[in-house]
Amino acid sequence: MLKSIAVMTSGGDSPGMNAAVRAVTRTALHQGVKVWGIRGGYHGMLDEDIFEMQSKDVSDIIQRGGTFLGTARCKRFQTPEGRMLGYKNLVDRGIQGLVVVGGDGSLRGASTLSQETGLPIVGLPGTIDNDVWGMEYTIGCDTAANTILDAMNKLRDTASAHRRVIVLEVMGRSSGWLAMVAGISGGAEYILVPEEPFDLEQICENMKADYERGKRYILMVVAEGAGKASEIGPIIAEKTGIDTRVSKLGHIQRGGSPSVIDRVNASRLGEHAALAIISGLSDIVFGFNRGHVVSINLHDAVTNKKQLDPSLMRLAKVLA
Ligand code: F6P
Repeated sequence: MLKSIAVMTSGGDSPGMNAAVRAVTRTALHQGVKVWGIRGGYHGMLDEDIFEMQSKDVSDIIQRGGTFLGTARCKRFQTPEGRMLGYKNLVDRGIQGLVVVGGDGSLRGASTLSQETGLPIVGLPGTIDNDVWGMEYTIGCDTAANTILDAMNKLRDTASAHRRVIVLEVMGRSSGWLAMVAGISGGAEYILVPEEPFDLEQICENMKADYERGKRYILMVVAEGAGKASEIGPIIAEKTGIDTRVSKLGHIQRGGSPSVIDRVNASRLGEHAALAIISGLSDIVFGFNRGHVVSINLHDAVTNKKQLDPSLMRLAKVLA
């Protein structure tokens, strides 16, 4: 049994990270284990921005987006010297295990730290991209998808009023999950994702045919990894002759009060992570599969690439 653990958030923030940290903290305290918070991701670990937490430190945060611990992407931690310094700062405080909430880059850092130092580490998937291998859900993806859906509903009003094509660019540097589920739920005619090549010339021909058949307006969702709305929009306008506008949602989709799903899932994952690390488990990341909490080998999770479900890609085309 570990007696003292730390928790941190790292990489891009996602709604529900606070709920996860709250659950890790309160579960550990409930077990009589000391909990430390690390501020600002791996930066805070290196700069000793580490504080002991009580239950009240995680009060009033479950409803908030972002992460009250702060987060960062840290270059120094990518060196062996940086990781050794981080490890020493934890050991100096008697910290025996670490829970890291973050996306694939942050979990990769955690995996390396654990391999190099032997520090027990448990990961939780925190990213709106939903791109961690071995699981169907990451903390924050539901809220982000709903934020995009809300934007699509609004864009639909104005697209319909003007009979325009609207191209909406959403996040997803290397994963099209957000674009795909938001596009399907928002009724987009076209969804472009990095996982699937597309032929813009052909799409423009199809759009012209759509209008000739009587379609009043068209919504296209583009994952940033598939292309820029600011470049795709003008091409569509030129090739189709249809009035076209573009919109980029940007970091709006990273913020906001977490949905019920993100709060409950993050809380469940946080509890699992705390109990696992306290019992001495290491090198695992918890996620959901078929609605159940599963533990995935951390190394496997960070070395494999999650694929976009082909049945979603098929469905998007059938329903368009
Ligand atoms: O990694 C998650 C993500 O949301 C990506 O989809 C996006 O490209 C990136 O974060 C942007 O992050 P930032 O601008 O904060 O570095």
